[in-house]
Amino acid sequence: MKAKKIFAEMNDQVKYELESAYLYLQMAAYFHEQGLDGMARWMRVQALEEQHHAMKFFDHLVDRGQPVTLQPLAIKATSWKSPREAFEAAYAHEQFISGRIHLLVEVANTEKDHAAMPMLHWFLNEQIEEEANTSKIAQQLRQAEKAGGALFMIDRELGTRSFTIPPEVTIVAGAGGAGA
Ligand SMILES: [Fe+2]
Ligand SMILES: [Fe+2]
Repeated sequence: MKAKKIFAEMNDQVKYELESAYLYLQMAAYFHEQGLDGMARWMRVQALEEQHHAMKFFDHLVDRGQPVTLQPLAIKATSWKSPREAFEAAYAHEQFISGRIHLLVEVANTEKDHAAMPMLHWFLNEQIEEEANTSKIAQQLRQAEKAGGALFMIDRELGTRSFTIPPEVTIVAGAGGAGA
């Protein structure tokens, strides 16, 4: 039986989602350094969400009896010139991740892996949201550069973000699989 390419791509996707978490945690540290704790909070929440994304792929592989091989994590930048640049980098990163999800859908289609489809469709929708959020904040920060004080209003607004752990997440519960 030939090894399915879709499983290798999903295994890689665990890494990409964890790299997203790593990147956003680095951005959180950058925002704390700038005294922008609201933006830092937004990024901390985003980093949690990315861990959740990684676990979706991790659990999918486990549930289908596939091995998971974790890979080293790397991020390209550890500092940014401005909040706007950081959010523009976040937007560019999410566009890259969307490309990855589209590739996974294509591979699953080619291999007629119908079992992967519900999860991949969830990610297609999620990426629309991720791109919309980061591009909108980047846009607001571009506007804010023209208006003094606007940066701090955006910072306050982003500081209200919270994260409720979705019920299927097994990071804490520990029992593998998506559950009943
Ligand atoms: Fe993600
Ligand atoms: Fe999201």
